[in-house]
Amino acid sequence: MVNSNSDVQIYNTHIEQTEAAARLITRVAKESYNTRGRFDFVLSGGSTPALLYRLLAQPPFANEIPWNSTYVFWGDERLVPPDHDDSNYGQARSLLLDPLGVPPANILRIRGELSPIDAAEDYAVRLSSLSSVPGEAPRFDMVLLGLGIDGHTASLFPGAIDEEEEESIAMAVSIEYGDRPADRVTLTPRAFNGARHIIFLVSGPDKAEAVRRAVAGDYDPQRQPAHRIRPGSGSIHWILDKEAGALLHPG
Ligand code: 6PG
Repeated sequence: MVNSNSDVQIYNTHIEQTEAAARLITRVAKESYNTRGRFDFVLSGGSTPALLYRLLAQPPFANEIPWNSTYVFWGDERLVPPDHDDSNYGQARSLLLDPLGVPPANILRIRGELSPIDAAEDYAVRLSSLSSVPGEAPRFDMVLLGLGIDGHTASLFPGAIDEEEEESIAMAVSIEYGDRPADRVTLTPRAFNGARHIIFLVSGPDKAEAVRRAVAGDYDPQRQPAHRIRPGSGSIHWILDKEAGALLHPG
């Protein structure tokens, strides 16, 4: 079931859905900047956010978001070098960060060129150095997430809950999914759940059943990793196109 602090928005096209996400990100960026002087924004990988990154790099969003005070993180990374075609950082860099000239000091990427354990440790240490609470991730203003057809989000895959994950804020994962690199690093639910806002941006007919299970299915965190995303005092926004939302019933 959708939590009381979540909403579902369904748009006719991928472009309309993406514009809605860009508007929400802009609103939260401005609020965060006005309140705390910075905007902490966690990006996702996958193909769905490519259009969003292109849109955010153009007016009006390029001018409205305080990019010099925006700090960029990733929810997960495939363990490949930063210039590799499969790098989540690489995608965001070419579509969003380079075109906007986001200062390198504002970009905290997961070092995909390291070994899995080292990359997870390195990311966790650098993140916790930004938090007022030792060992915790900073409280992100906005987290962007996708959803896989098997229900995974970031690199939290079905059936993969383990003890390490409950204790850490970033962890190494090895999982075969399509032709994507198997070795990954992901933030854990503990790190995501401090966020003020989380967007699930999902599109296309092949995602409809995964969306139904994540949004309206019985609570089953082992099989539905999206159920583990429950920001204590934050909000979840499901921003869907009509194909992805096709199996949700209004009301
Ligand atoms: C990754 C992701 C992953 C992605 C989903 C959806 O690095 O692969 O962060 O969780 O968001 O697999 O991917 P698509 O948008 O390509 O369907």
